[in-house]
Amino acid sequence: MQTTPTADGWSSRLGFVLAAAGSAVGLGNLWRFPYVAGENGGAAFVLIYLACIALIGLPILASEVAIGRRGACHDPIGALTSLSRAAGASPRWGLVGLLGGTSAFFFLSFYNVVAGWSLVYVWYALRGTAASVPGGATEVFAGLTGNAPLMVALHLAFVVLTGAIVLGGVRDGIERSVRVMMPALLLILLGLIAYGVIETGEFGRAARFLFAPDFSRLTLKSLAEALGQAFFTLSVGVGGMLVYGSFLQESGGIARTAISVAAIDTAVALLAGLAIFPIVFATGIEPSAGPGLIFVSLPNAFVALPGGQWVGALFFVLVVFAALTSTISLLELLVELLREQLGWSRWQAVSRASAGYALVGIAAALSFNVWSDVRLFERGIFDLLVDLTSNIMLPLGGAGFALFAGWVMSRDSLAAELGVGEGWRLSAFRMLARVVAPIGVFIILLAALLQ
Ligand code: PHE
Repeated sequence: MQTTPTADGWSSRLGFVLAAAGSAVGLGNLWRFPYVAGENGGAAFVLIYLACIALIGLPILASEVAIGRRGACHDPIGALTSLSRAAGASPRWGLVGLLGGTSAFFFLSFYNVVAGWSLVYVWYALRGTAASVPGGATEVFAGLTGNAPLMVALHLAFVVLTGAIVLGGVRDGIERSVRVMMPALLLILLGLIAYGVIETGEFGRAARFLFAPDFSRLTLKSLAEALGQAFFTLSVGVGGMLVYGSFLQESGGIARTAISVAAIDTAVALLAGLAIFPIVFATGIEPSAGPGLIFVSLPNAFVALPGGQWVGALFFVLVVFAALTSTISLLELLVELLREQLGWSRWQAVSRASAGYALVGIAAALSFNVWSDVRLFERGIFDLLVDLTSNIMLPLGGAGFALFAGWVMSRDSLAAELGVGEGWRLSAFRMLARVVAPIGVFIILLAALLQ
């Protein structure tokens, strides 16, 4: 391990909160949450999801940030090995960092493909493309996924966008960009909700759908889905939050900061639901339309609504910003790992890591068209990457970070990092990190294996 103290770091706690919330708020909130909630019956699912965030996601998030700030370096492998040595535990805990880095690499490659779609959808929305083809947005989406060169080009464009920001470093690249993108994202979202209230008249139905539970529609699978969504949306399990935490220089407690990040992420998911479902209901679309909800149902809805062209374009700008603030956190994690473990410069790490995940992403993009016959474990390449990372690797990594914070870090150092004193709050946190979060992970793994 090399300790490389850098002058780089967040300019303030707000910089960290914006970047961490930016990492958390992403396609998980805008693309995945609405359709998963839709498929699982709405409000009852939302309740379970909130419980998973509070009892499992949040403790893991706080664990990652605590390990990151306590560790002697910015990369997860180094942080875990240095802390375990200091605590007299096995340095093999570093493997959790390696698992996280590997997950981040594969996660980025599929995530970036979807992020690339949002770029071209801004254009489609402005041009009203869905209105101009006979099959509407369904055909537009099929046309996009069937067009191999376009899919690859969009993917690569997003790779370059992400790399360009991360190249600027933590403060001048990442923080500067999230300071613009996060407030813009919130404004657009609020604007879309106002539009839903004024133009569609379906706001009440959307609110009932999200907040009035019907437990009869819940299945055991919903529980695993809610847990999986909690991991996906909070960005935990890969070590990205650990890296962001390592750049937090000041010494104040991080429990509250972690709560703010989780609260912002949850608020954005619910607000996204309140923005999307009124539009969905206004045009008579089923809320359980699946992964195509925002790329098929919504564009169809936009062409039918007043001013839909502009509203649609703004919506996809929102998706671009949300996805970009997430991809930069994943790339930054890889960059710190490569810089500290292999001694590469920032430029070398950014360019080589980007080239690597871009290649896997190209395979994912081609699995929608020319390579659609390639099947591994009964899945196409894209689906395999999604399932492998979200259902297996992220949860395993998350359990690793929580177990480390709960069992290896001393009570004192944990209390100092969290800033919650030595009382019941600390005991409750340790109970969640030691036992509850790992059991949650076990449930997800079991559900994934039984499927
Ligand atoms: N949380 C992001 C989202 O909701 C995805 C993500 C996962 C980002 C893991 C970074 C790390 O879209």
